[in-house]
Amino acid sequence: LELRITTSMSGVIPSTLYGYMWEDINHSGDGGLYAELLQNRAFQGVLPGTQNALTAWQPYNGARLSVTNKIEGVTSALPNSLQVTIPKTVLGPIGFENTGYWGIKVQAGWTYNGSFYAKSDTFTGPITASLKSTTGATYATATIEGISSTWKKFTFTFEPSASALDTNNVFHVEVNGPQAAGQTIYFGMFSLFPPTYLGRENGMRIDLAEALAGTNPSIWRFPGGNNLEGESWATRWKWNETIGPIENRPGRVGDWGYPNTDGLGLLEYLNWAEDLGAEPILGIWSGASAQNYSELSTWPIVPEADLQPYIDDAINEIEFITAPANSSEWGALRSKYGREEPYQLRYIEVGNEDQFQPDSYAAYRWNAFVTAIGERFPDLEFIATTYPSTALNPPYLKIDYHQYESISWFENAAFMFDNYPRNGTQYFVGEYAATSTNDSDALGTIATGRFLYPTLAGSAAEAAFMTGMERNSDVVFASAYAPSLQHIRNYQWTPDIITYDAGRLVLSTSYYVQQMFSVNRGTHLLATSPASTNDSAPLYWVASHNNETNTVFLKVANTGPDDLTAYLFFDFNVTSLFGTAVMLSSPTLSSITGVFNISNTLDEPENIIPVSSAFAIPYPDRYNYTFPATSVTVLALEAN
Ligand code: AHR
Repeated sequence: LELRITTSMSGVIPSTLYGYMWEDINHSGDGGLYAELLQNRAFQGVLPGTQNALTAWQPYNGARLSVTNKIEGVTSALPNSLQVTIPKTVLGPIGFENTGYWGIKVQAGWTYNGSFYAKSDTFTGPITASLKSTTGATYATATIEGISSTWKKFTFTFEPSASALDTNNVFHVEVNGPQAAGQTIYFGMFSLFPPTYLGRENGMRIDLAEALAGTNPSIWRFPGGNNLEGESWATRWKWNETIGPIENRPGRVGDWGYPNTDGLGLLEYLNWAEDLGAEPILGIWSGASAQNYSELSTWPIVPEADLQPYIDDAINEIEFITAPANSSEWGALRSKYGREEPYQLRYIEVGNEDQFQPDSYAAYRWNAFVTAIGERFPDLEFIATTYPSTALNPPYLKIDYHQYESISWFENAAFMFDNYPRNGTQYFVGEYAATSTNDSDALGTIATGRFLYPTLAGSAAEAAFMTGMERNSDVVFASAYAPSLQHIRNYQWTPDIITYDAGRLVLSTSYYVQQMFSVNRGTHLLATSPASTNDSAPLYWVASHNNETNTVFLKVANTGPDDLTAYLFFDFNVTSLFGTAVMLSSPTLSSITGVFNISNTLDEPENIIPVSSAFAIPYPDRYNYTFPATSVTVLALEAN
C-alpha cells in the first residue's frame, strides 16, 4: 500500500470527540470509582427483614443483627438502622463487621476517615472500631465514647501500622460483651474513606480516577444508561435526591440489581468532570422507565397529560447547575452545598435509548422536553436517543446511537460515516464496544462468543471504527466506549474498559486504544491519498495535524492476521529526523492461532500494553512502516 499524507486540512476535529459514558453498573460507582469502602453503609434501597438488608454485614461473636425501620432513622431520608442485640450471656468482645465491596484495601501511610451514628437506651460504654484482616490481624483501631439515647455522629481516623498483604479485611466494630450483655445498640450511616483523588471530600478512588483521567477524556455523559431510567417512574435517578449531605440522600434501587447510595451524586459528577477537563453531557429522564426487553409494550411511559412535572424537574436541575447563586433559588442551593460558580453546560441528552419506545418519544416526549427546556435555556443543545431514522419534531440536530456489536461489524463499520448525510445533524456514538466474536448474537453469553474482557482483536476492530469516526468528525462530534468500569466480584455487563477488585485494577486493550486515540489528538484532519480503503488490505487509518504542537498523527489499525507494510509519503515538511510510534500488538508470534483473542486480565494485566519507540526518518518525505498483524499504531511526526 502506498499512502500519501497531504497538507490539505480537510476539517476541524471537535474537541469533544473522545470521552466516557457513565452510569452505576457493575458496581462502577458504589464499590468502584466512589471511594467509600463500606458496602450497604446506610441500608439504603433494602427492605428490613429481607436477605439483602444485611448485605456485607456479619455478626462477630454471637451478636444478633437486623435492619429495622421501627425506630426513627438517622434522618428522614434514611429510615433503616442496624439493630445490634447482645445476648444475655457473652464472653469477650462482641459486635459486627462490614466486609466492604468484596474486601477492603489496607495501606500503611494512608489516613482513613471513618464515621457512624449510634444510640442506645441503656448502653453507654465505649465502642471500638478497627480495620482487621479476616484472620485476626489488627491494622488500626479507634475508640469511641459518648453513646447516649439519641442519635449522635461519631468520627474517627485510622492510620494503619502496616499494609495488608491482600484485601481480605473487614471494618470491625465491637463492645465489651459482659458490659453490653442483654442490651440493644442501634447504628446508622456508616462511612469509611481512604484518601481520594485530588483530596476531594466524598471523592473518588485514586487508582480508578487516575486511570480514567489517563485517557484525557473530553466528554462525560452521565448518569446513564439504563440507570437513569429506573424500572419504574418512582425509582428513576432523581437529581435532587443526590445532592447535599450524604445523610439526606435516600439512595435508590438501581437498574442493575443493587442499591445505589447516590453518594456519587450530581455535584460529585460535575466536579469530577471538571477535574477531568471533560464537558458534561447531562442525561435527563424523558418520561420512560426501562423494564424487560422482551415486553417493550409494558414499559411505564408517562402520558402526555402527566409529563409537565418531569419537565419542570429537568428545568430545576439545569437551573441548579447553571444559575447564578444570587439570583436563583436553585443556584443558591448549589452555593449552599459548596459550589458558588455555575457550571458550564452545553449538552442535554433527552432520555436513553428511546429507540425502544420511539412512538411516544416521537409523538410528544422529545417535543415537550426540548420545547420547554429550549425556551428557558436557549443556548443548550439537545441530543436525541431514538433510531436515527425516527422523525422528530423539532428535528434532532444531534443523536446518540449505540453500537454493541461483533468484531467484524466494527471492521465493516469503519466506513459507515463516510456516506452519512452532511445535512447539519451530528452523531454521538455514546456507547460502543466490540462485545463478541459472534456475528449473529453480539450480546449473548460468554459460551457463545461474548468477551469477559476486551480482546486485542476486538480492540483493533474498535480502532478501525474509530479511524472512521475521526475521519468523519464533521458528523461524529463525540464518542464513548461503554460500559466504563467492572468490579470483577459483581458485574452485570461485559466487556468493560477497566476491571478491578478491592485492591487491583487492569487496563484493557480497549482502554489503551481509547488512550492512544484520545491523547494523540490533532486539531485538524489531514487528507490522505487514498482517503481510506475497504478493499484488499485490512488496514484502516486517519491522519491529523495538531496546530498547537505542530505534530502530524497517523493512526492505523491492522485488523488482519498478517503484518502489513505501508509506503508512507509525506507532503509536509518533517522537522525532526525522528518520529515516535506507540503500538499495541501481541508480543507473541503473530502466526500462532488464537493470540489475537488475548486479553489483559486482573491476574495477567500486562499481556498487551502499548510500546513507545522512536524511529529514524532517513528521507524527510517518506517512510516505510510495518504494521503488525492485529495491531493499533499511532505515529507522530514533528512537521510544519
Ligand atoms: O452500557 C450498558 C447498557 O447498554 C446501558 O445502560 C444502556 O444504555 C445500553 O443498553
